[in-house]
Amino acid sequence: MADIAHGLEGINVTATKLCRIDGLKGELVYSGYDIFDLAEHSTFEEVAFLLWNQRLPARSELEALDKTLKSERELGDVVNQILTELYPVVRPMRTLEVAVEILGAQDRNSSDLTNPGLRQTAARLTAKMATVIATYHRLRTGQPVLAPRSDLNHASNFLYMLTGQVPGDLEARIFDVALILHAEHEMNASTFSAIVTASTLSDMYSAIASAIGTLKGPLHGGANEAVFHTLEAIKEEQNIPSYVEAMLSRGERVMGIGHRVYKTTDPRAIILERLGRQLADQSPNRKWFDLSQKLRDYLARKLEGKPLYPNVDFFSASVYQMLNIPADLYTPIFALSRITGWTAHLLEQYGDNRLVRPNAVYEGAESRQYVTVDQR
Ligand code: ACO
Repeated sequence: MADIAHGLEGINVTATKLCRIDGLKGELVYSGYDIFDLAEHSTFEEVAFLLWNQRLPARSELEALDKTLKSERELGDVVNQILTELYPVVRPMRTLEVAVEILGAQDRNSSDLTNPGLRQTAARLTAKMATVIATYHRLRTGQPVLAPRSDLNHASNFLYMLTGQVPGDLEARIFDVALILHAEHEMNASTFSAIVTASTLSDMYSAIASAIGTLKGPLHGGANEAVFHTLEAIKEEQNIPSYVEAMLSRGERVMGIGHRVYKTTDPRAIILERLGRQLADQSPNRKWFDLSQKLRDYLARKLEGKPLYPNVDFFSASVYQMLNIPADLYTPIFALSRITGWTAHLLEQYGDNRLVRPNAVYEGAESRQYVTVDQR
């Protein structure tokens, strides 16, 4: 029988200059820069530039990117109108997917697949997707929609548009780092989805809509929201053993645990736990973070010997809780960051395109004779 690479595990589908992961050592590197270094020193805007150019920006280049992102934050009447129709009935990830396609429909240059055209779209989507989610949330909570503020960076402006409060320095920095951590991750499922769509020479908006639809699933980006629901269901430390035992005996997975590539703790989970500790020291809402740590410790004992460790989604749930972000926005926030990685991969793909079209091994019936419907 022919070999089948189920889930394409271990298959190299393309080459990239954007990201390298060592799943055994727990290393994550964006264009040569270790994620720990970037989380310590960089900003989301710098990382966006890094991914789109494979080098860090000069000050003037960073200022130019900052200006472009700020100039692209407004959504315009059509998208705002559509959001007022969607928010009562459509969940945030699908709203984001629809909004991206509407932005594509409105862009007369959507089919411009030249490198400058694609870069413009990448910046446009990075800026506007944040506004889409903030606007959606303000509408559904009956609060006035806030105009973006040009004195705030991408992370702070998003939190401001979402909550109506300019975040404090610690909150702003922690959210900025969370965006850095989620920006890029080599050939994950949503990036692959974007690449498959782009490889047909469909436009960047459709490729990103495909990626958003893929990220939504609970085995991928949707796991961060699911982690929070797990914590809510567990409620107290004493319930951890019985809850986990029951879950595993039903053959269910503990969300935020395990990874196709990492066979040790995901470095992003290490950084998020550190950030969580800093936030927890001053947060009235540290309960879920404390429970996450207890759950992690229990699972480490329970799953000892298996390559199952916390992934990026495990601590992002309780960190976002302490930032007062509602659980159903965790995955959209992942997308607001990953848009940079997705579009960077698309720049590579459109720059050296080949249609993605693998094979399937046929296992169905052979040599059948058609019979008409009334003879079956
Ligand atoms: N809880 C319990 N057992 C698990 C988990 C988990 N979270 N993840 C994997 N396993 C077990 C499987 O049941 C399987 O056991 P078996 O060999 O006894 O049958 C074994 O580990 C291998 O599992 P696979 O599904 O083959 O591993 P795969 O590489 O396909 O899974 C995945 C990776 C999908 C992330 C998986 O670990 C999972 O479902 N985790 C929970 C969801 C999650 O947190 N997703 C976010 C990933 S990070 C991201 O996308 C941003």
